[in-house]
Amino acid sequence: MTSLEVASNAVAGSLFFLAKRFVAGRTIDEAIQAVRKLTNLGITATLDVLGENVARSADAQTAVSDYLVALERIHETGLNCHVSLKLTQMGLDISADRCRSNLSRICERAATLNNFVRIDMEGSAYTERTLTLFHDLFREYQNVGVVIQAYLFRSEEDLKRLIDVGARVRLCKGAYKEPPHLAVQKMGAIRENFQRLAACLLQRGNYPAIATHDERLITWTKNFVREHHIAPNRFEFQMLYGVRPKTQRKLAADGFNMRVYVPFGSHWLPYFYRRLRERKENVLFVVRNLLKG
Ligand code: FDA
Repeated sequence: MTSLEVASNAVAGSLFFLAKRFVAGRTIDEAIQAVRKLTNLGITATLDVLGENVARSADAQTAVSDYLVALERIHETGLNCHVSLKLTQMGLDISADRCRSNLSRICERAATLNNFVRIDMEGSAYTERTLTLFHDLFREYQNVGVVIQAYLFRSEEDLKRLIDVGARVRLCKGAYKEPPHLAVQKMGAIRENFQRLAACLLQRGNYPAIATHDERLITWTKNFVREHHIAPNRFEFQMLYGVRPKTQRKLAADGFNMRVYVPFGSHWLPYFYRRLRERKENVLFVVRNLLKG
């Protein structure tokens, strides 16, 4: 091994050590262990086998197999845990048909095991294709849901259609860097959009997921459901593994349904990068630790 390879392995090793704040581990066993710990705190989970933008069919097949194993393990353990996946991990960049058939295999197995599959939303280049595939699949499988990003201008229309067909929607702000002609850029305006969409979902949606760590949006949601007499069992809060764990526990203890998104696997870098981008304190934490050597 060259000295450059040794150095880059050492950096990758230290980065994974730091990523472990947001990633449950590399294996399904580690992920199940993390889900068990959450379960003991009254928190449910959704497992994400990390991976995206696969360029080879064989990699998409591996992802499908990993999800099928995850579904079996969830079933064996009896844990309240869904799965979340990305269409580019199922081969969307290779072929829409291939992607659909890969996803069908997972939805089929999940339906047999009485489980639920959430399709994460990726960058805006995939929004239309993701929603088209979702609506197509939803006609066949009712145990599949999707995600709407509050920062996109198109989301209000997309959400109306999803509510009309009775789809289960997770609402989040959106994690990708999008251009100003497609997405709201200012945090205040993203929050306003989030509230408008959340209001529709909470009043008319099918068991929506309010996915945020933003204290203002959490408080707004609690007030909204109280004022509109919406029972806590009609929706759930969702947060990411390792982000605001005390708030996760407090919401669960206060009687709200709380589900945590638990990512695991070897393809952790893009996910870790998005978590860093969200918060400058996280970047400083990484830089400080790398410099410590
Ligand atoms: P915001 O970023 O304003 O954070 C509010 C506060 O939360 C911060 O001040 C800090 O205290 C804490 N916090 C937030 N992020 C943190 C971090 N990385 N590290 C430490 N503290 C942090 N996006 C997407 O495009 N497609 C998707 O499918 C999903 N799926 C998804 C599932 C779930 C369960 C969640 C919670 C989020 C997503 N997202 C997503 C990500 C989402 O779009 C968004 O990027 C993040 O949730 C950050 O936005 P917040 O609303 O949490 O607020």
